[in-house]
Amino acid sequence: MQQLPTKSEIDYKREQIIDSKPLEMQQLPTKSEIDYKSEKYKDAYSRINAIVIEGEQEAYENYLQLAKLLPKHEDELIGLSKMESRHKKGFEACGRNLEVTPNMQFAKDFFAQLHQNFQSAATEGKVVTCLLIQSLIIECFAIAAYHIYIPVADDFARKITEGVVKDEYTHLKFGEEWLKAHFDESKAELEEANSQNLPIVWKMLNQVEGDARTMMMEKEALVEDFMIQYGEALSNIGFITRDIMRLSAHGIKAA
Ligand SMILES: [Fe+2]
Ligand SMILES: [Fe+2]
Repeated sequence: MQQLPTKSEIDYKREQIIDSKPLEMQQLPTKSEIDYKSEKYKDAYSRINAIVIEGEQEAYENYLQLAKLLPKHEDELIGLSKMESRHKKGFEACGRNLEVTPNMQFAKDFFAQLHQNFQSAATEGKVVTCLLIQSLIIECFAIAAYHIYIPVADDFARKITEGVVKDEYTHLKFGEEWLKAHFDESKAELEEANSQNLPIVWKMLNQVEGDARTMMMEKEALVEDFMIQYGEALSNIGFITRDIMRLSAHGIKAA
């Protein structure tokens, strides 16, 4: 409800004009300008690092539950869960390296809705929904975040993240292959699970927009990378372009 200035009151050269631009239009600092030890960076890192650690923990638990739901793939899924556990340890080391204590309560709250939806689906034996949440949404979210983070990470975290992102592709591939092999009977459940869970990803991205910017990661770049990974996954499973556009729009509607 603030009063707009009259035209004669506008000082077009004022610095604040830049500051008052929407977040996404402000200039990001260059990587050499990042001070990884500054309080501001460490404060943002305490939440982002916690989200990554919690995300890997969720993934570890989710693949163990999937191993029970898909006994034919038990060994493979237990193998994937072990990889997630290693990822978690790697990111915990990244936090220690910057002397940051991850804010795990923030991260638990951040994942609460996806966590709840996965648990409900697992209880009901809805394998398709579980795979969509873990192997498509969480893996694509992780891949997008790690892609955008790698170029602006500190050297220690960059090496760890580069190793992790390769593994996440194999997890995404597991979900794609299973869903492709069961496409016809999974299609309706995939559409339903997509409309319930994709909007949650948008809320999650909005929640960390400010912290991501402090770490030089732009929300638009995260969204773009996520949509590319997710769209490709849907295409690999068997959806046609028209369906992919419609499914993707469920996320955008909630933004
Ligand atoms: Fe992982
Ligand atoms: Fe993964």
